[in-house]
Amino acid sequence: MSQTTMACVLLFSFIFLLSFFSHFFQETKAIPFQTTPINATKIGQKSLETYIVHVSLPADPYSSKLEDLESWYYSFLPVNPTTGLNDASRMVYSYRKVVSGFAARLSAEEVKEMEEKKGFLSARPEALLALQTTHSPDFLGLHKKVGGWSDANQGKGVIIGVIDTGITPDHPSFSDEDMPPPPPEWKGRCEYGNPPCNNKLIGLRSFIRDRPGLPFDEVGHGTHTASTAAGNFVANANVYDNANGTAVGMAPHAHLAIYSACSRHGCRSADVLAAIDAAVLEGVHVLSLSLGFDFPISLFEDEIAIGAFGAIRNRVFVSCSAGNYGPLYQSLRNGAPWILTVGASTTDRDVRATAVLGNNQEFDGQSFFQPKDFQTTLLPLVYPGMNGDQFAATCEKGSLDNIDVKAKIVLCDGFGVETGETVRDAGGAAMILMNQQSSGYTTSAEVHVLPATQVSFADGQAIKAYINSTSTPKATIQFKGTIIGVKDAPAVAAFSSRGPNHASPGILKPDIIGPGVNILAAWSESVEDKTTTKSNFNVISGTSMACPHLSGIAALIKNAHPRWSPAAIKSAIMTTANFTNVTSSPIIDERRVPADIFMIGAGQVNASRALDPGLVYDIQPNDYIPYLCGLGYSDQNVRTIVGKPVTCSTVSSIPEAQLNYPSFAIQLPQNTTQTYSRIVTNVGIAVSSYHVEIEEIPGVEVSVQPEVLNFTELDQQMTYQITFRRTTTSSNKSFFVQGAITWISEHRVRSAIAVLLAADTSYDKEFIALEQSEQVTNTV
Ligand SMILES: *[C@@H]1O[C@H](CO)[C@@H](O)[C@H](O)[C@H]1NC(C)=O
Ligand SMILES: *[C@@H]1O[C@H](CO)[C@@H](O)[C@H](O)[C@H]1NC(C)=O
Ligand SMILES: *[C@@H]1O[C@H](CO)[C@@H](O)[C@H](O)[C@H]1NC(C)=O
Ligand SMILES: *[C@@H]1O[C@H](CO)[C@@H](O)[C@H](O)[C@H]1NC(C)=O
Ligand SMILES: *[C@@H]1O[C@H](CO)[C@@H](O)[C@H](O)[C@H]1NC(C)=O
Ligand SMILES: *[C@@H]1O[C@H](CO)[C@@H](O)[C@H](O)[C@H]1NC(C)=O
Ligand SMILES: *[C@@H]1O[C@H](CO)[C@@H](O)[C@H](O)[C@H]1NC(C)=O
Ligand SMILES: *[C@@H]1O[C@H](CO)[C@@H](O)[C@H](O)[C@H]1NC(C)=O
Ligand SMILES: *[C@@H]1O[C@H](CO)[C@@H](O)[C@H](O)[C@H]1NC(C)=O
Repeated sequence: MSQTTMACVLLFSFIFLLSFFSHFFQETKAIPFQTTPINATKIGQKSLETYIVHVSLPADPYSSKLEDLESWYYSFLPVNPTTGLNDASRMVYSYRKVVSGFAARLSAEEVKEMEEKKGFLSARPEALLALQTTHSPDFLGLHKKVGGWSDANQGKGVIIGVIDTGITPDHPSFSDEDMPPPPPEWKGRCEYGNPPCNNKLIGLRSFIRDRPGLPFDEVGHGTHTASTAAGNFVANANVYDNANGTAVGMAPHAHLAIYSACSRHGCRSADVLAAIDAAVLEGVHVLSLSLGFDFPISLFEDEIAIGAFGAIRNRVFVSCSAGNYGPLYQSLRNGAPWILTVGASTTDRDVRATAVLGNNQEFDGQSFFQPKDFQTTLLPLVYPGMNGDQFAATCEKGSLDNIDVKAKIVLCDGFGVETGETVRDAGGAAMILMNQQSSGYTTSAEVHVLPATQVSFADGQAIKAYINSTSTPKATIQFKGTIIGVKDAPAVAAFSSRGPNHASPGILKPDIIGPGVNILAAWSESVEDKTTTKSNFNVISGTSMACPHLSGIAALIKNAHPRWSPAAIKSAIMTTANFTNVTSSPIIDERRVPADIFMIGAGQVNASRALDPGLVYDIQPNDYIPYLCGLGYSDQNVRTIVGKPVTCSTVSSIPEAQLNYPSFAIQLPQNTTQTYSRIVTNVGIAVSSYHVEIEEIPGVEVSVQPEVLNFTELDQQMTYQITFRRTTTSSNKSFFVQGAITWISEHRVRSAIAVLLAADTSYDKEFIALEQSEQVTNTV
């Protein structure tokens, strides 16, 4: 059977970023998703910045004719003293569909003046967002003509909009073989003519203001994410012959509409909002955004959350990356409840390169560059940091100037492919790159520039101890090629951002995890030889890679169930996820210990089960209004998100946990009891009887009423109450506990539950302490 490889996702983790985005890396050494304020440009005496301005429409209902909208927006602009008219040259974007507002170049004083105008809601300077790959469909249980794919017809008729760095249109992953024309209601277009567009690539537009007219991908990220979501079948895809197989996206027959809004420097929020606005207006069904803010932000200030709300109001499903700020807790981005927030896990594929030491110890690592002519005779082994020189230990540029590594194998404590360049330039024969402590066992398989392997932190420590134990340390690397069936998969990637969810702690996030480590997918150029024209693929890692896997799976569900709302599709994905591995052991994290609920949410996506969930937890756009009021937002801020007038004092606000979400995250102080209700909709078998199974939560008593739900027809809705009662003080030290409830008939419908055990806000300290204790575990 041919190994199906899948092109996918890009993690803008600095670890992986380094190899391809050295520019960006230099700017953002410490923080992968860097958001820097854009320096104001001096124009005349005033310094202007691009602001995103939200306004209310003058009447409700209001004509949504573009001219009327625009003239209303223009009335907010400063008046040009010479002409006496509103200065139209300031306008950057007039948004039409997902928000009422515009982007314009303004000075801070002008914004202050604008605040006085009737209809003004809010204005924020735009931010720079950061961007956050051949075997994954098989691993996720999708095989040609069996299971999920045949049922869902591979996403036929569904349009996935990808907002990213553009696309490489002539890549074979975007061939339209076997693709029907786009659905008749599609209103999008190819700004660059037909070709490059075809029945696969049905839309191609650019929203990069300083690089107009170039939707072509100069980075690779957008090509990778688009092919992961919906790339067509490409045989013999590999990098240096590794991970060889048929590359294919999750929804191979879905159409792609590409909105280029990001460059190698990141993405401007005004551009991203314009791209979402256009995509929804043109009729995409699913939106995939592998990007995010690099700092925590409230929902009403977050253009991705605001744009995504406009999308779900128009029944467009939105999947976003959770961020690459793990393993820290509370590091999650894109946590709005109307977004599917995707964390990253490993697959069962290794591209193995084993470090063999002079004492016969062996340590399995990974590298995509596997030279066939490398002699496996033992070479002298050196660790440049052995004398305590921390800079030399990194093998960063310039760090090996005074160290003799000629013809030796060098152990480095660094990041990425550039360390290999330093070792090669200093005359080193090979490199063993060891993980940072926080990365634990999450190793990346990279396209190194010399014989190399990347090993875990623990293995690196063992190699250091060996070097220290002998006067003649020696080692070599054995290249073993692609290994499928690696035990321990899926494991949560070290970099995958974790909850609790800063923007809304009462909504459990991430929602789901999916493949995001060492993903092989289409790329903008050959990483082997930039001059060849052979099919170009690259292997990269990140929650950016995990997100489009879920976008593709959402397209499969949309195809199978065209009437389902975005919330129903999301519920289907979450309630059917696998929270254990094949042998019913818990999914593990980068330390190889059981992962907790703030790392995996509902668990690892199971694509075939998600197509047939039995019951769904549905949410209508208006249901979010009491939830947003319950967050304590002002009327203006709620209005900015939902796009219509809201008076919270007349709305019955609800606590976050009362939203009809398919999971729970609550705070439960001692001696308290809380009750919430949920409504489930039968989308499985008309006459069916579900009983509830409760996974015990230490220190918390959970009861559900009724315990049996008898359905007699499809689309029937039933309500249940769930009560959480804190029992005696738990003797367990944990400050949070977890469990689940599952409704069981022929289907299993599981909701994960996280419970924080106190009312106060001391959790920051608790989570930091937990991270520190985890680091201790990690050293063992
Ligand atoms: C922005 O302005 C600051 C202060 O003037 C300067 O240090 C920085 O280099 C500027 N950044 C860019 C990208 O121009
Ligand atoms: C998905 O769930 C089905 C049914 O429980 C199971 O047989 C299959 O192994 C799962 N697939 C994956 C990839 O988890
Ligand atoms: C990749 O796999 C295909 C099909 O199994 C095979 O024909 C081809 O020779 C392989 N290529 C490499 C480089 O291993
Ligand atoms: C090497 O061994 C010495 C003595 O056992 C110890 O003090 C030192 O920390 C070790 N260094 C490393 C890098 O393991
Ligand atoms: C399942 O996970 C456990 C750790 O939780 C691991 O020891 C075991 O090898 C895994 N099984 C498989 C088949 O991957
Ligand atoms: C997924 O979970 C189902 C039970 O819900 C189990 O039968 C199956 O083995 C799991 N598969 C994997 C790959 O974890
Ligand atoms: C909880 O109840 C117990 C028994 O009634 C009491 O001793 C304890 O002080 C209470 N704890 C809190 C935090 O109220
Ligand atoms: C402590 O946690 C363990 C494992 O989760 C559980 O079995 C036990 O019941 C808990 N003890 C108490 C007192 O909650
Ligand atoms: C639900 O249906 C089951 C059998 O299908 C029956 O035994 C049970 O009494 C019913 N319960 C209710 C509350 O209707």
